[in-house]
Amino acid sequence: MEEKTPDLAGIEKEIELATEAADTSESLRAVRMGYLGKGGKIPSLMKSLKDVAPDMRPAFGKAVNGLRERAEELFAAAEAKLRSKEMQARYERERIDVTLPGRQRKKGAYHPDTLIIDELVSVFAGMGFEIYEGREIETDYYNFTALNTPKDHPARDMQDTFYLGADFLLRTQTSAGQVHVMESKQPPIKILSPGKVYRPDDDATHSPMFSQMEGLVVDRGITLCDLKGMLDEFAKKVFGGNVKTRLRPSYFPFTEPSVEVDVSCFECGGKGCKLCKGTGWIEVLGAGMVNRAVLKNCGIDPDEYTGFAFGMGIERIAMLKYGINNMKLLFEGDVCFSKQFRA
Ligand code: DAH
Repeated sequence: MEEKTPDLAGIEKEIELATEAADTSESLRAVRMGYLGKGGKIPSLMKSLKDVAPDMRPAFGKAVNGLRERAEELFAAAEAKLRSKEMQARYERERIDVTLPGRQRKKGAYHPDTLIIDELVSVFAGMGFEIYEGREIETDYYNFTALNTPKDHPARDMQDTFYLGADFLLRTQTSAGQVHVMESKQPPIKILSPGKVYRPDDDATHSPMFSQMEGLVVDRGITLCDLKGMLDEFAKKVFGGNVKTRLRPSYFPFTEPSVEVDVSCFECGGKGCKLCKGTGWIEVLGAGMVNRAVLKNCGIDPDEYTGFAFGMGIERIAMLKYGINNMKLLFEGDVCFSKQFRA
C-alpha cells in the first residue's frame, strides 16, 4: 500500500513546471485539462480514493483536495501572466505612431469653364431665367432644320458636324435646346441652357468639343431693346461696372435681325490694347430676335409672340476674363492650371 501512495508533491512540481513552460493561453488550457479536466490526473486521484485503505482515506482525500486547490492557484496565476503578456504583445502589434505626418489629401479646383458657367447661371438666374439642360446627341431636325437651316442651306457650312449615322448627330450648338423648350411649352419662356457642343475643328483657337451658353426669351411684346438692356446688365456683372455693349449686324438663320454683341474692352477701358487688338471692343456673343419661321416650326404664333435668343462660347468668355492665351490649356485637365482662377 505504502509504495502505491501517489507522489502528490511530485505532481505539484510537475504542474509548476508545466504552467511555467506553457507560452500561450491555449497551450496552458491544454495542460490544465490534463490535470483538472474530466479524466485529468487530479479527478482520477479522487476516484482512486476508494482503493485507499480506509484509515488512510481522510488524510489522502485532504491531500488531494489541497493539491487541487494548489493546482487551481498555479493555473490562475499562469493564466493571468500569459494574458497580460498577450495583451502587451497586442499593444505592440497595434501600436500607432502618432508622430507620423498625416497623408495629405490634395484639393481639386474648379475648371475655368465651370467658374464661368456658375457665374453666368447666377447672373441670369437673378434676372429670372430657368436652367434647361438639353441633349448632346440630337437629330438633324432639332440642330438645324427647325432652326431654319434646312439641308443644303448655305449656313450649314458655318458649322461642320459630327454625324452619328443618318438620323443623329452631336449637337453643334446649344440652340438645338431652344426648339425642345418651345415645342414643350407656350410663352412666357425664359431659359438659359449651358452645355457641351461638338464640331470637327481642332487648332489653336478651336477644340472639337467646347461649351456654349444659350439664352431664350419669348413673350408678348419682346423687342431688341429688351435684348440690349439685358446684355448691358450681363456685361456689367461679368466684365465690370464700366463696360458698355454694342450690337453689330450679323447673320444667323434662326434670328432676324441677327446681331454680334461686343463689349467695350475691360482691359484698356476702350482705348485700344493687345486684348482688343487696338479696336477698344471685344466680341462676346451672337444674338438676335427669334426668326418667325423658328417660332412657327415650334408651334408658337409669331403674330402673337416675339422673342430674342443669344449664344456664347464659354471657353471664349473664360479666356477673355481670365487672360488665358491658349485654348489648349482648357483641355489639358491640369489641376495646377485650374487652381489659378477664382470666381
Ligand atoms: N448658335 C450660334 C453658334 O453656335 C450662336 C447663337 C447666335 C445662338 C445667335 C443664338 C443666337 O441663340 O441668337 O454660333
